[in-house]
Amino acid sequence: MNTKTTIISQAQLEAQFAYCDKIAALWCAEGRTPTAYVETYGCQQNEADSEKIRGYLTQSGYSIVKEAEGADVVVMNTCAIREHAEQRVFGNLGALTHTKRRHPEQKIFLCGCMAGETKVSDRIKKSYPHVDGVFSTHHLWQFPEILFNVLTRKKRQFYVTDEPGSIAEGIPQVRDSQLKAWVSIMYGCNNFCTYCIVPYVRGRERSRQPEDILRECRELIENGAREITLLGQNVNSYGNDLKSGMDFADLLSAIAALPGDFLIRFMTSHPKDASTKLFDTMAKYDKIAKQLHLPFQSGSSRVLKAMNRHYDRETYLEKVRYAKSVMPDLVLTSDVIVGFPGETEEEFEETISLIQQVHYDALFTFIFSPRTGTPAASMEDPTPKEEKNRRFDKLCAVQNSISEQIHEAYTGKRLRCLVDGRDKEMLTARTEGGRLVRFEGCDSLIGTYQMLTITGATTWSLTGKL
Ligand code: SAH
Ligand code: SF4
Ligand code: F3S
Repeated sequence: MNTKTTIISQAQLEAQFAYCDKIAALWCAEGRTPTAYVETYGCQQNEADSEKIRGYLTQSGYSIVKEAEGADVVVMNTCAIREHAEQRVFGNLGALTHTKRRHPEQKIFLCGCMAGETKVSDRIKKSYPHVDGVFSTHHLWQFPEILFNVLTRKKRQFYVTDEPGSIAEGIPQVRDSQLKAWVSIMYGCNNFCTYCIVPYVRGRERSRQPEDILRECRELIENGAREITLLGQNVNSYGNDLKSGMDFADLLSAIAALPGDFLIRFMTSHPKDASTKLFDTMAKYDKIAKQLHLPFQSGSSRVLKAMNRHYDRETYLEKVRYAKSVMPDLVLTSDVIVGFPGETEEEFEETISLIQQVHYDALFTFIFSPRTGTPAASMEDPTPKEEKNRRFDKLCAVQNSISEQIHEAYTGKRLRCLVDGRDKEMLTARTEGGRLVRFEGCDSLIGTYQMLTITGATTWSLTGKL
């Protein structure tokens, strides 16, 4: 298989912009402004992709609306990470038959990670005739062409060929927030953890050129961004494919050197590639948030090997120890899977002991979900569902009490927070470590950094005052 990254040329993108113009002209002839609704599932990569889909739609004359009912275009940007995520999408896709019945001209698209699975595109072809177009993440850059074909050819469009992946610079973006921006620094994944579908649906790892990333960050900061979150499945291997000598820590330093008052976050870090150089760089710059999402997945070295994670319990703990030694206020979060095929009670207890040892601020906990085509899906899995649920509940209970303790320790602290919005009668803000703080204040504070005194805590959030 060809594994080379394709660079989408300026001419290829111009051809897509020409489709945007043609779509806008079609609607102009109709004499009204069309509407579009984009629904996003899954992780921040998908959020970032949806900003591009909205960018293309806006450039094609669409006004973005907040519900599917009555919209001329509906795009479902989907996630394939677990069975449950897929079931939700199929349920919501089924419900769209009703919106389409009330508005027969509605065009429905399915894209994102599920669109990269042959079994999904086949099922849509066969059983969901109201879906007009399906395109995998590799074909997102061609969305205007796909939309134009659907509008003019009255024929369903499937752009789902499997490819190693491309990089397209210059797709327009309509960002969710001007204050807090996502910046993808790389796409795809090479790690093939045995449970995970991402490498199959998002292709091989490929890094954007540093100058493109720096230009985007500079523009964002000039336009008022106060937080930039760098995205990639494994940001620590940034640059490996560029052979420019610039690694992730160097990229962080270069962004931190940009002028302006802003904070850099990033996710996700793979422990196998998280280096002391990275932690030293984080410690060195005030503009890099002392926040780290470092998924460990399991506390058992045997299970980690079966997961193909390329680190063991001791190496992971050693990295955490070093990170905490150079950043004493580090906010640490992680992902963990319970019930991986063959996980024994003792191995599960090793996961519990690891979280007790590390004391994470928060954990994202998952029950193993077999994904067709991944090695783990065909591993022997004798543990009954009820037993996995019991382990999951225990894990959550242990973590909740740790999170509560950590949150209680915030009371009385004075922290610099970015005020980012309003939730009913309270303003919301984020600490440097990414914790949510609610406090009373007026809307003019939104978009500014403020010193807040923490007055109380729950498992999930903090309360504070100016
Ligand atoms: N690239 C990131 C994770 C992306 S997926 C990383 O390597 O850390 C987010 C999380 O979903 C993973 O960390 C893992 O905990 C979970 N996950 C992935 N595949 C899963 C599966 N098949 N069943 C259950 N959880 C899974
Ligand atoms: Fe999936 Fe592993 Fe890649 Fe993360 S690093 S996306 S868990 S294969
Ligand atoms: Fe889901 Fe794809 Fe992200 S599978 S978690 S949306 S990379």
